[in-house]
Amino acid sequence: MGYNVAIDGPAGAGKSTIAKLVAKEKGYIYVDTGAMYRALAIHFLKKGVSADDREAVARACEDAEVTIGYEDNIQQVYLNGENVTSMLRTEEVGNMASKTSAIPVVREKLLELQRSLAREKDVIMDGRDIGTNILPDADVKIYLTASVDTRARRRYDELRAKGEECDLDLIARDIKERDERDMTREIAPLKKAEGAILVDSSDMTIQQVVDEICSHCR
Ligand code: DC
Repeated sequence: MGYNVAIDGPAGAGKSTIAKLVAKEKGYIYVDTGAMYRALAIHFLKKGVSADDREAVARACEDAEVTIGYEDNIQQVYLNGENVTSMLRTEEVGNMASKTSAIPVVREKLLELQRSLAREKDVIMDGRDIGTNILPDADVKIYLTASVDTRARRRYDELRAKGEECDLDLIARDIKERDERDMTREIAPLKKAEGAILVDSSDMTIQQVVDEICSHCR
C-alpha cells in the first residue's frame, strides 16, 4: 500500500493547485480524479447523450475506457486511447461531469482505477469522495474549502488569464449550483470525511495552504 493523502472539497477550492504543490514537495504522485469524470463527460458529450437519461449514460459507459499516464510527472487522461487532457477544463465539460458523476455506473467505472493507483504508489488524490469512499483509510485526509465569492473570483481570474470572456455573477451562480448537486446527490456526496482536517483557504495564500497540509504529511 502506498502512502495516501486524500483531498476533498467543492469546485474551485484550489484542490488541484495545492495538491500539485504538495506532491512536488513531498514526492507523491498527484491524482486528479475530477479529470477522470471529465473524460467520461467528454465521451457523453461526443455521443450526444443527455445527463438526464441515466440508461443512455449507462449504455454509453460500456464503450468508454478511461486510463491515465504521466508525462514529466503531469497526469494525462486518455479516453479510449486518445489523450483528452487539453479538453477537460471547460465549463461545459465540468457541468456535464458534475451531473453524470451522480449516476452510480459512472462512479463504479472509475472506482477501481482510483483505488489501484493508491495501492501502488504514494499519492495525493483530489476529488469529492476520496476520504469518505475511495480511500477511507488514507493516512491523511483534508477537506479544503473556501467561500463561494473567493472561489468564483479565482475561477474568473483563471478564465480571464486564458483570454476567455466571462461573467463573475454567472460563475458564482454556477459554483453554487455545482455545490448543491455535488453535496446533495444520493451516491458519494461531497462532505467532510470522518477524521478529515478542515482547511478554509479563503484568507490564506497558496503557500500557507501548502505548508499547512505538508505539516500533517509524512
Ligand atoms: O474537481 P472537478 O471540478 O474537476 O470535478 C468535476 C466534477 O466531477 C465535479 O463537479 C464532481 C465530479 N467528481 C466527483 O463526483 N467525484 C470526484 N472524486 C471528483 C469529481
